[in-house]
Amino acid sequence: MLMTLWLRLGAFLGKLLLWSLGLGVLGWALATAWFAWQQRGPVSAQELIPDGEAAMTQDIIQTAVRIVDQHRENTRYLRDAHAKAHGCVKAEVQVLPQLPDELRQGVFSEPGKIWQATMRLSNGNAYPQFDSIRDARGMAIKLFDVPGKQLLGDQLERGEQDFVMFSHPNFFVSNVAEYRQNVAAQADGKKVMAFFPGWDPRAWQVRHLFIALATLSPAPPSPTRTTYFSVSPYKFGAANAKFRVAPDPDSCPAYDLPEQNRKLPNFLRTALNQQLSTDRVPACFVLQIQRQDANKYMPIEDTSIEWRESDAPFETVARIKVPAQDFDTPALNLQCDNQSFNPWFGIEAHRPIGGINRLRRAVYEAVSDYRHDRNAEQ
Ligand code: HEM
Repeated sequence: MLMTLWLRLGAFLGKLLLWSLGLGVLGWALATAWFAWQQRGPVSAQELIPDGEAAMTQDIIQTAVRIVDQHRENTRYLRDAHAKAHGCVKAEVQVLPQLPDELRQGVFSEPGKIWQATMRLSNGNAYPQFDSIRDARGMAIKLFDVPGKQLLGDQLERGEQDFVMFSHPNFFVSNVAEYRQNVAAQADGKKVMAFFPGWDPRAWQVRHLFIALATLSPAPPSPTRTTYFSVSPYKFGAANAKFRVAPDPDSCPAYDLPEQNRKLPNFLRTALNQQLSTDRVPACFVLQIQRQDANKYMPIEDTSIEWRESDAPFETVARIKVPAQDFDTPALNLQCDNQSFNPWFGIEAHRPIGGINRLRRAVYEAVSDYRHDRNAEQ
């Protein structure tokens, strides 16, 4: 009797397992087909600004300032994002000497030209934490003495071109509306639930949750050993493009970074210090652009979509050299903290485009002004 019961239970569980597997595969196939159908070209090569974006932006500024206040570290006010720096280093950005004519745009107009620059390397989190914790890693580059009219009317004297990136190719939200909902939920302490804004399954952002989880990746061996993406698109002369900065060890002397102790809270700073200051070995990168082909699914208004390299390859436009240097001093670290990078510090040829970039225009300035004002009052 007991034996029969066991056999029946076994058969039932076996069937249940088979059905679950079958339904899982079917669900996966349907979802793949649905996304392939939804995500197909052509797309617009122009910006499409939805109604109400300006009001949503004001709302997001309030939340961002709330986050800065929440994460105040003792006396100093830090950035709302990428609060912890591994260091700011001097860099040289050289336009490729043999750059083809159609890639000679903006700061890349003159082949062979060398720009002096600064580069801030960071963790993505809103407050400083151990480097071993999964996170996005940031890279912000600022070219100096850039001629031409600056995009921001009140920053005409700057003469800068910034490139602001992190270590994942796509963003966990598509647009400003979704950013507003998600970041407000996060500021209220929600994490995974920020992607499930209500009971209606149509509003669940499962794909975006996976992007967020993938963005929070284990630390690289050093900030010089990972690739950084613009994520959002920019003008590149008349074209639209994304860009990225990737390690280019072949352009620098061979170097084996000694294994770092990952238990140390700031081992990424130590790794940078070891290479540039102790071992005096430069680090090299390439700066590459990926031009939009509007016949493919390469949208401007959705930062959650990675532009596929099979649709448009990345093309190298410049090489970056970070020379051996002593960057880790109290004075230079304070200067680094007080620096502001902003995708809108730049010239028309590299104008940021798309909703998330329009949002960043207002938010970076507001947060930067807020933390600078508060720190000046201390
Ligand atoms: C396209 C996706 C994005 C990328 C690649 C990115 C990357 C970065 C990086 C690397 C930094 C640090 C810059 C530095 O070293 O000083 C930064 C700072 C910051 N980000 Fe973003 N970010 C993105 C989207 C956003 C969005 C959507 C917002 C909010 C609207 C935002 C708000 C900020 C703020 C407020 C700062 C600090 C600005 C300051 O106080 O100087 N970011 N971001």
